[in-house]
Amino acid sequence: MGTNLLASLQEHLHGKSILGIIGVILMLYPLHVTFIFFSNLVKLRKFKGPMALPFFGNCYNSEALSVLRYLGKLRKRYGRVFTFFTFMKPYVVVCEPVAVRRILSDPKTFIKGEDYSKVFNIAFGEGLVTSNGDKHKRDRGLFHKYFIKTNISPFLVHANTIAIEAIEEEIVKKQKVGISYDIEEFFAILALRTFMKFFCGKKFTKDQEEYFTKFASDGSYMVGRMIMLGLPLWSPFLLPWINNIKGGKRKFWSAMKDVIIERKSQIKAGEEPIDDCLSVLMNSENNMTEDDMSDHIITMLCAGHDTTAYFSSYTAYLLAQYPEIQEKLRAEIQDVLKDRTEITVEDISKMTYLNKVMQESLRLYSIIPCVSRQSVDDIVIKEADNLSIPKGVNILIPMFLINRDPELWINPSIFDPERFDGKTDWTSAKHGFFPFGYGTRVCIGNSLAQLESGIFLCHLLLKYKFEQVQDWKPNIFSGISLTTNNGIRVILTQLQS
Ligand code: HEM
Repeated sequence: MGTNLLASLQEHLHGKSILGIIGVILMLYPLHVTFIFFSNLVKLRKFKGPMALPFFGNCYNSEALSVLRYLGKLRKRYGRVFTFFTFMKPYVVVCEPVAVRRILSDPKTFIKGEDYSKVFNIAFGEGLVTSNGDKHKRDRGLFHKYFIKTNISPFLVHANTIAIEAIEEEIVKKQKVGISYDIEEFFAILALRTFMKFFCGKKFTKDQEEYFTKFASDGSYMVGRMIMLGLPLWSPFLLPWINNIKGGKRKFWSAMKDVIIERKSQIKAGEEPIDDCLSVLMNSENNMTEDDMSDHIITMLCAGHDTTAYFSSYTAYLLAQYPEIQEKLRAEIQDVLKDRTEITVEDISKMTYLNKVMQESLRLYSIIPCVSRQSVDDIVIKEADNLSIPKGVNILIPMFLINRDPELWINPSIFDPERFDGKTDWTSAKHGFFPFGYGTRVCIGNSLAQLESGIFLCHLLLKYKFEQVQDWKPNIFSGISLTTNNGIRVILTQLQS
């Protein structure tokens, strides 16, 4: 009886002390946040920008939640460099191409900061997108050779087959011709099948495909929003998203484990070794733990899947709006291929108009609308009017705005592939056109994405005319990539043969 009483008294006191600690934390936290907020204001005092408030940043103005539109307004008001405060996180937004080039090409001074190590990390783990320094260098070196054009070339025979089969299965059999069709759904399946074939030679089941295409695009949206909202990761608003991403990741890894087991048994049975990205992960010399393997595969899927799907979809959408450009492109494809249906690297290189169309599509719809970096030193960028960036600043580079900047592009909102005629330097990185990033962290999947997307579009254009859906527009709801919340709609009309 006596000991019971003592135990319950101890429990009571213990409960009280925990409540007390929580109370103190709740009281100190606002002070801590306010202190950080004002020290950031002092650090960024030299930059112009809208008024910000502790806890809310610029988001007391509801316009700030439509980030790209809001940043566009700030760009007009404050020039090419200005501040933007999400709820809890300040950024210096840099739209000056010369400065952007310097920032992206100096990964020692401008590292991938907390956006990557904390938020991206929830989905991507420690893969190529999030890592820095020697780890990044080593891992990039391991995968590099698979992404070179000459090594992608033999793989394209599969990309052709995947496109032809998917047209039959997803469009013809499901009777999508002649109606308003969300073509992003189609390209999402193509991109997933192509990615799996490229990465490890496998194909998912229909159910898995449905789940993982959704996971990749929802994950992109959620991670992008988490960065743009800048709320702390323990915030109750974010927990359902974080759990969702972690659940999807577990499911994907469990499906990939089956692929790994199958590969191991093939090796055991003495079958011809396969040299692909999966073999890099499984090679014992590379000392990869299960976590490393999972992080690399998920990174590649998330970085390469909905980017390619959206890129192909926006291009189809633009071609539907500009029938003359579409006709000219179709004529080029027919001229290069004659009666052949298998498209090769050489064919794509010969299709100069297709390449201009794809570049112009990437300009208007910057698939990665923004990237960020963090400065690890005080630095002055002399070539950009002595732009001075203090140590520890988060930098946001909104490629979406740079690519539509009226001071850089004539009639920026017009889809005009002829801008990319190679005669001016407008379209170069010097001028601020970085659809795949720049420097040592340029997109590793750059060639793969353009080749596969080129092949998908050629096959579709040879069978169908793309037409506009009247009064319909994509509602851009940007995540890491330029996702929409209403798909991307066109009407496919059968071409007369
Ligand atoms: C149209 C399609 C694509 C676009 C527009 C795109 C764009 C980009 C951009 C802008 C970056 C640089 C990000 C930064 O500097 O912070 C990047 C990095 C990356 N991309 Fe892509 N990407 C595409 C397709 C792909 C594909 C197909 C893959 C792989 C299958 C891929 C894998 C990666 C990886 C791993 C990185 C990180 C590279 C590193 O830091 O070393 N991407 N991408």
